[in-house]
Amino acid sequence: MKLFKTAIFMLLLAFSVYASESSPTLKSVMKGLGDSVDELNRGIFYEDFKVIETAAHKIANHPKPKTQLPIVVKTLKERMAKFKSFDSKVHDSAAEIVELARKQDLNSIMEKHTVIMNNCVACHTQFRSEISQALSSFSKNTKAK
Ligand code: HEC
Repeated sequence: MKLFKTAIFMLLLAFSVYASESSPTLKSVMKGLGDSVDELNRGIFYEDFKVIETAAHKIANHPKPKTQLPIVVKTLKERMAKFKSFDSKVHDSAAEIVELARKQDLNSIMEKHTVIMNNCVACHTQFRSEISQALSSFSKNTKAK
């Protein structure tokens, strides 16, 4: 029984190491979002609702930068609520576009598209340089150790 528990523990440990190593950086998540928005735009211009649906689904379900998130929280402290609200607005509007694409409602898709763009850019204007700096000085510090 003890051996069994140890085995389970080792497995969980191995998995959590694997999970943290495989967690993407915020920058790579953002690059992915940039690509998905390009795809969304292409879908809109070609009025291809399947492409719109797929791209919006990717935006709504983008991976989380789990390893770097604690640094963001530490940097922004109480301003984290604002940061999260930008992210939620992008998420919610993308999820709504998925539904609207199924109804082929291009006008409403364009309204939600505007909300997405405004919130991508609002977060960048308000937080990008600060977080970029915090993340790069953190990785320099950990490398130096
Ligand atoms: C909640 C805040 C937030 C939201 C919302 C957000 N971003 Fe970002 N974005 C950032 C931060 C912070 C960086 C800087 C990351 C870094 O330098 O490590 C960034 C950087 C980027 C970059 C540059 C990546 C690079 O290679 O330097 C792109 C492209 C990008 N975001 C696209 C998007 C798109 C598209 C959306 C909307 C669908 C979006 N972002 C929404 C915070 C946000």
